[in-house]
Amino acid sequence: MNKNNVQIFDTTLRDGEQVPGCKLNTEQKIVIAKRLDLLGVDVIEAGFPISSPGDFKSVEEISKIIKNASVCALTRANEKDIEAAAKALKYAVHPRIHTGIGTSDSHIIHKFKSTQEKIIERAIQAVSYAKNFVDDVEFYAEDAGRTDNKFLAKVCEAVINAGATVLNIPDTTGYCLPGEYGAKIKYLKDNVKGIENVILSCHCHNDLGLATANAIAGIQNGARQIECTINGIGERAGNTSLEEVVMILRQHPYLNLDTRVNSKLLYDTSQLVQQSMGMMVQPNKAIVGENAFAHSSGIHQDGVIKNRETYEIINPADVGVNESSIVLTARSGRAALAYRAKNVGYELTKIELDILYPQFLNYADSRKEVHDADIHQLISLNKPLKSSVNF
Ligand code: KIV
Ligand code: ZN
Repeated sequence: MNKNNVQIFDTTLRDGEQVPGCKLNTEQKIVIAKRLDLLGVDVIEAGFPISSPGDFKSVEEISKIIKNASVCALTRANEKDIEAAAKALKYAVHPRIHTGIGTSDSHIIHKFKSTQEKIIERAIQAVSYAKNFVDDVEFYAEDAGRTDNKFLAKVCEAVINAGATVLNIPDTTGYCLPGEYGAKIKYLKDNVKGIENVILSCHCHNDLGLATANAIAGIQNGARQIECTINGIGERAGNTSLEEVVMILRQHPYLNLDTRVNSKLLYDTSQLVQQSMGMMVQPNKAIVGENAFAHSSGIHQDGVIKNRETYEIINPADVGVNESSIVLTARSGRAALAYRAKNVGYELTKIELDILYPQFLNYADSRKEVHDADIHQLISLNKPLKSSVNF
């Protein structure tokens, strides 16, 4: 693997689908999996086969169809889960089993009522067992974000020796600060024997709104896989958003890190997931939200009309959005009104704009937004204005 390549592990169909009310059927999952493969993700986590017959079937069907990306199935650290995953992945060209166990004191004491020694033993057994079925075994240390680094390093070294190919370091509760999460990855890079032979993976939750920042901090400290979802959907406040990490790396080329994702398909893929799950993103969602490339204040509109780069760091075409939009509101200026009027066929002179603009402001004050039909109406109400322009 090129050391500047960051692998994209998409978990929209597993962690993403854990959102209440967003369950997908097998057909819907197949459509999304095909789109993810086309998008260029490296790994598709297709489900958790032991969890239900429907999830088993989805992983099995996706395994039959996907030819480029690895298809991954989640398990807990026990033989039954691993056997179900292996069976569901039977037809996959590139199968991966994702097994693991909680490693924080909170998980060891309250969830497993166990000890650190026994947890390491179970981790080794799970990875060794999974290796009987597939070569590619990813280990997750659940709640690694709150796990003591020294113990985490011990777990990582043990599972590398057992054959793990990828080490997932989840900030399961979204607790870490970016500096802290980055330092955790660096600590593992510096202190785990054999770490150079595996890929470290960032799996960050968004409980404090830091999932994307934490994943990027992990990558800057040597991780080379990001686990993420389309639109950042997932348990509670969600996961790292795929579109955000892809565009962060692309917009900061000096980092010398990139993914294989075809960014021009990001907007359409986001729409597909929103519609399939019935879960719309907020308008101000980075990259794919309705307002991500919309400008409504006069100062910004004037700048964007003169040169898009004054207020946009991403070319909308690069993420599959047709163009930036100039939204007309009571905060819009003359340049925006002239621009939108031109778009619907009226080349306004300076005098015409002087007459129309105050009327536009009065009209806009009573509305949230002024649409094309409103522009036609405003102009048609100005007979002398209407007769002075050719339409
Ligand atoms: O958040 C988490 O820890 C997980 C693991 C199961 C990988 O989703
Ligand atoms: Zn998760």
